[in-house]
Amino acid sequence: MENLTFPPDFLWGVSTSAFQIEGATDADGRGRSIWDKFTADQGQIVADDHYHRYPEDVALLADLGVGAYRMSFAWPRIQPNGGGVPNPRGLDFYDRLLDAVCAAGISPVGTVYHWDLPQALEDAGGWLARDTAARFADYAAILGERFADRVRMWIPINEPMVTTVYGYAIGEYAPGKTLLLGAVPTAHHQHLAHGLATQALRAAGAESIGTANHHSPVWPAGDGEGDRAAANWLDALLNRLFADPVLLGTYPDEMHEHLPEGFDGDLPVIAQPLDFYGVNYYEPQGAAAPGEGNPLPFELRPIDGYPRTTNDSPIVPDGLRELLVGFRERYGEALPPVYITENGCSFDGVHDPERIEFLEGHLTAVRAAMSAGVDVRGYFVWSLLDNFEWSKGYAPRFGLVQVDYETQRRTPKDSFAWYRKLVRK
Ligand code: FCB
Repeated sequence: MENLTFPPDFLWGVSTSAFQIEGATDADGRGRSIWDKFTADQGQIVADDHYHRYPEDVALLADLGVGAYRMSFAWPRIQPNGGGVPNPRGLDFYDRLLDAVCAAGISPVGTVYHWDLPQALEDAGGWLARDTAARFADYAAILGERFADRVRMWIPINEPMVTTVYGYAIGEYAPGKTLLLGAVPTAHHQHLAHGLATQALRAAGAESIGTANHHSPVWPAGDGEGDRAAANWLDALLNRLFADPVLLGTYPDEMHEHLPEGFDGDLPVIAQPLDFYGVNYYEPQGAAAPGEGNPLPFELRPIDGYPRTTNDSPIVPDGLRELLVGFRERYGEALPPVYITENGCSFDGVHDPERIEFLEGHLTAVRAAMSAGVDVRGYFVWSLLDNFEWSKGYAPRFGLVQVDYETQRRTPKDSFAWYRKLVRK
């Protein structure tokens, strides 16, 4: 830790999302989301029961000493059927939460949408439907009008890539569609939603608006032309499809044939000026030339030769430096100040030296990127609490705080003490 020195105004934070921690899925008029449906066979997702226990969780944040807390609003609490007048009891919950966070001297960072699409909107086509973008802008306006007095930094959509690829292309996440490249229009509609929401939030007085985009450097499996071409194509799909439209107002050429007709007419709305660019980083991705009969122009390859987390992710801290420096090179002056809006790992137990080493390694990589000229302004650990990790359920433990799901007892881990010391330094 001694070598980790950051500017005095560097913003330290932690991140969570509504569906992964709140529970209380029937409380106070909340509607159903695609994740309630997708997990229906598991019964209600109680998660961390944060909806009822938020005062205890805010006390943990205060003890940790972070400057910022990134949370998300549950769309089905605000608009149970995805449209129309807001549900007052849903808004009241976020009033209570945000007031508590602010009273603790912590700046809330608001994610408008972290994957819990109202099921009624999915029934009408979900992110395959252009109209979902307009519905999203209405929802964002409601949040902006109510909460922009307390929330300074806003992120319209968490990781649109994951919704497109995991939700609509391969079906590992809700809504479970397996459209392969037929999922690319969901990227466009999420971008349009981001642009329209950015306008709506600004009109409501939001001061600072950015992204939380998932990015991975893509490494070719070998030196051959086929592997390099495959890696380049996968990079277009995972990275440039999501960064180019918002930062440059263009789409990578590889994607044009998969986008909805007339997509370029939306690019001026999509490329709204942003105050920051949020990057979520977990691991690099490997790619090889596709085998015979593969309908895709690439094949995924595991990254070998690195230690792995309990969630089987390779631990590659320098991938974060590589990513950030690559962004600076590609986007130049079009890249606003950067925040690492998520980074973290799953390891078991309250004694978690592996997590400390992970965080230290990745912060060293951030520092190196800053020395190389990347303007990084803050860093958010994923996550404050162990939580519901989507299709993997409760098994992966990403928290700085352990949660016993039988009793809901919270126990800060060794990594909590380590991060506390760092952010208080
Ligand atoms: C990210 C998600 C977040 C969490 C972490 C581990 O892709 O944004 O909700 O699941 O992965």
